[in-house]
Order: sequence, then C-alpha cells, then structure tokens
Amino acid sequence: MTMDLFESSSSEPWVEPLCDGAVVLRRFARADASRLLEAISVVAEQARFRQMQTPGGHTMSVAMTCCGDWGWVTDAGGYRYQQTDPLSGEPWPLMPAVFRSLAAKAASAGGYSGFEPDACLVNRYAPGAKMGLHQDKDEDDFDQPIVSVSLGTPAMFQFGGARRSDRPQRVPLEHGDVVVWGGPARLRYHGVLTLKQALHSLTGACRYNLTFRRAR
Ligand code: SIN
Ligand code: FE2
Repeated sequence: MTMDLFESSSSEPWVEPLCDGAVVLRRFARADASRLLEAISVVAEQARFRQMQTPGGHTMSVAMTCCGDWGWVTDAGGYRYQQTDPLSGEPWPLMPAVFRSLAAKAASAGGYSGFEPDACLVNRYAPGAKMGLHQDKDEDDFDQPIVSVSLGTPAMFQFGGARRSDRPQRVPLEHGDVVVWGGPARLRYHGVLTLKQALHSLTGACRYNLTFRRAR
C-alpha cells in the first residue's frame, strides 16, 4: 500500500527550467510510451530507419526516419525538408495521432500553446551513437518551438548557447522526458553524448528520440 502510493506519486511529471524559453518536462511522455513505441514501429515499416550521410560525406551514427508532411533529410546535397522519403519516393508516413497530441500537450506545458507540428524526426540511438552540437534551423518560422521526446535507455543531452563555442549544460534524459525549447532559446546549440550500454524493458539497448517541428 505504502509502496503503491510512493510509486504513483514519484512518477508524476515535474517541470525543470533549463533557461529562458526552455524546460525539461520530466517523465511527461511516460504514460504514452508504449503507444508511442508501437507507433514508431508502424512508421518504420513504411519508412525504414536509415543512417544518413552528412553533406561532408560522413555516415551519421544515429539511424533516422520521419513522419508528417515534411521529413528532414541530409545527403551530399545538404540538409533540407522534403515531402517524400528519398528511399522510396513515397510521401512520409502520416504523423500518428498519439504523436501529434503528445507534442501539442508538451508544447503547451512548456509555454507554447497552439503548436501543430508538420514534421517529426525519429532518431534511434544504439550504444555508441551520438549527435554532435547543432542548431535546428532548417525551419521557416523560429517562433515555433521544438519538442523533443526521449524513450528507452538514458542519454546525456547537451544544451548549449547561441554560439557553438558556448559551453553546454549537461542534462541527463530518461525514458519519458520531454525537452521543449523556443522563443529566446529556439536557436540554442544542442547534441547528445555517446550512448552508453544499458537495457530498457521496452526498447532493449536503444534510445529513441522524437523531435517535433513546424517546418513550413
Ligand atoms: C536532435 O537534436 O535531433 C536529437 C536530440 C535528442 O536525441 O535528444
Ligand atoms: Fe536538434
């Protein structure tokens, strides 16, 4: 009885401010996690995970796919949004309803109401994968926030400043955590340190990240 009470109260989401315009919504996506992971499998059946090439010719360690009206891609031609999957030539999978509603709820909880994402980048990290510091800046309207959902094994997120050389804060992210940044924080550099070996009951050794954006 005591244990049940303790467990249910300790799993309630809470908000951690990162800086002006950015928050971590701790455990916010936990209740929806199984449905989100099922929806990721459905998306990946249609548009499989792939390791894209950077414009400089490097293979990214993170495997990616997309859903929604616009998908983010990188290849020798550069970074861009496009409406079709380059592997199939088909439109990206529809954004699952559970993705859309979670993204809107999280944006509101982070202070950005009315968020209607038209793009979701799905990142899959295996142990050893990482993402270097970068800005999300291929979108048309920087008044729209970024909503970033973590699922599976833990990772160390880096949240930097307006310049690449600004020393990033280290933010440990766990299953169900959601980072929302916009307004004055919209163009902050961010990245993910090399994923460590770990096991999660729902995802095995992997971490998934859903990044919601308004591309157009
Ligand atoms: C990204 O910036 O696209 C991914 C961030 C993350 O995996 O947490
Ligand atoms: Fe990013």
